Amino acid sequence: MKKQTIRDIDWQGKRALVRVDFNVPLDDQQQITDDTRITAAVPTIQYLLDHGASVVLMSHLGRPKNKVVDKLRLDPVARRLGDLLSREVKKVGETTGAEAEQAAQSLQSGDVLLLENTRFDAREEKNDDSMAQELAKLGDVYVNDAFGAAHRAHASTEGVAKHLPAVAGLLLEKELEYIGGAIEDPQRPFVTVIGGAKISDKIGVIENLLGKVDALLIGGGMANTFLLAQGHKVGDSLVEQESVDVAKDLLQKAADRNVKLLLPVDVVLADAFDNNANTQIVAADAVPDGWRILDIGPESVEQYSAVIKDAKTVIWNGPMGVFEMPKFAEGTRAIAQAMADSAATTIIGGGDSVAAVEQMHLADRMSHISTGGGASLELLEGKELPGVAALKDQ
Ligand code: 3PG
Repeated sequence: MKKQTIRDIDWQGKRALVRVDFNVPLDDQQQITDDTRITAAVPTIQYLLDHGASVVLMSHLGRPKNKVVDKLRLDPVARRLGDLLSREVKKVGETTGAEAEQAAQSLQSGDVLLLENTRFDAREEKNDDSMAQELAKLGDVYVNDAFGAAHRAHASTEGVAKHLPAVAGLLLEKELEYIGGAIEDPQRPFVTVIGGAKISDKIGVIENLLGKVDALLIGGGMANTFLLAQGHKVGDSLVEQESVDVAKDLLQKAADRNVKLLLPVDVVLADAFDNNANTQIVAADAVPDGWRILDIGPESVEQYSAVIKDAKTVIWNGPMGVFEMPKFAEGTRAIAQAMADSAATTIIGGGDSVAAVEQMHLADRMSHISTGGGASLELLEGKELPGVAALKDQ
């Protein structure tokens, strides 16, 4: 169901209460080390300001566990946002209460206010209605632009939407258009590349995608459990013994549905989990004892790249190997390159794959890079995101 967006509202003289995901990484000095999520929210904030609104922003930062943690205050975020918007961003030291209400009341059209970390309040994660009502006093219309937190049913992402007209921001809309659009109505062939360490994290995703994709390319540590399920030895590789039956079941389902499920045909082995380890490349069914798989091999790269080249839509979630170590980054790099070179709509679904694509300086060659790891996984699993469900339908 399509949701109303900020374009459906007349903003002149209104206060927009906007949930953003400013959960950005900070270093020991509380300096922001990656401001992608702040930059990604600017188009919505700018749109609101350009259309006569004042803006009250709320976000969580980190996991302060229901209490005030000074190093998780949002002041550095307010400063960075002020720089990006070239205007003052006012900041209060509480999320709701008299100070926040007074600051929100005195806003003029074009003003921006940032509330304190929503997770300092124990009611946030409980989705407590009293907090939702207090937040609702701070604006006339609620805007959810926090795609990264839309899988959480919290007071600021879901509860507050019950008390105000509630619409989507431009970032949320874009994320849903790309990821939701690909899953619901993809241009075919539709290919997904799934990697990462553990199969158990991705079972729901694979099950859902098996009913939708033309091909599923599997790499990363999770491929080892599939190889084991096929009866191959995997030496000292990371495996999830308890998921071998699940892997067998998924292989069977793929065969029943005629979905091309590709596993690595060759692998890069190491004799230790170390960038200085000895390495060798072998066929995936010939892994000797004492060695572990840390990347997909060149023949697998070639096969996967050929499938990506012919695709019209590609979604990627999870690296192909231990890309943090240069010796085992080639599989991940080559897949990123194949996607960058492809004419398909290419979507990077959050988390480690985003880090990999950025490390390889290929981010600007992709159609869409998601700002939400957990949220994009839940969308790929076919789940409804509570922060989206709460918004007004078109
Ligand atoms: C994220 O970083 O994925 C989002 O900001 C959600 O954070 P959370 O996992 O702490 O809810």
